[in-house]
Amino acid sequence: MAAPREHGSPEDDYTAAPFVPGGGAGLDELRAAAARCRGCPLHRDTTQTVFGEGAPGARILILGEQPGDQEDRRGEPFVGPAGKVLDRALEEAGIDPAQSYVTNAVKHFKFEYASAGRGKGGDSSGTKSKRRIHKAPSLREMTACGPWLAAEIALVEPELIVVLGATAGKALLGSSFRVTKQRGVLMEQDVHGRTERLLATIHPSAVLRADDREAVRRGLVEDLRVAAGALGTS
Ligand code: URA
Repeated sequence: MAAPREHGSPEDDYTAAPFVPGGGAGLDELRAAAARCRGCPLHRDTTQTVFGEGAPGARILILGEQPGDQEDRRGEPFVGPAGKVLDRALEEAGIDPAQSYVTNAVKHFKFEYASAGRGKGGDSSGTKSKRRIHKAPSLREMTACGPWLAAEIALVEPELIVVLGATAGKALLGSSFRVTKQRGVLMEQDVHGRTERLLATIHPSAVLRADDREAVRRGLVEDLRVAAGALGTS
């Protein structure tokens, strides 16, 4: 019989706070500590924590939702198909990757196994395939991971935060955030107790799902051009 779960652990409370190092820790120390985070159950089925990447003094912080399958395997954000869309859009908008810090609202990959027969990797045997497909993080999981994001923002001190998609927007700005209404405009928002300049746009994976990919991709680039304009790089 399985041992009963102990109560009172951070996993029960759903918070990363006890794992986040205190004052004086730099991004490398934060990354090392995040690798041991047990602040919610998502770490159990993943390969590793995927922490943010980029220069400590980056001018722009780009916020995604959560790592995908490839990011989980490689341990870096936005290295899969959505990352390729993002890289190209940033380049077209005139945003230098060397001036960017890229991270996610949730640092572990939440997924389910594709049902047999569903898309690539599925079969007709009635069993689950080995293909892992993205599952949206819950508000509780996003809130649990919030202390990591707050610590990253405090250390990077970006001039602008670019929020990619509805889930990242809700994680940062609350459940009333609507990407369709708030995209493409510069905003000033209270984020973890600091006033931040912020711009929201669609998630690059929306380009991959769209029927008219090029039109949706152009919209992403247009929004990012507003961000580049705000930084004076366009
Ligand atoms: N989608 C995200 O939101 N983040 C990643 O790192 C990869 C895909």
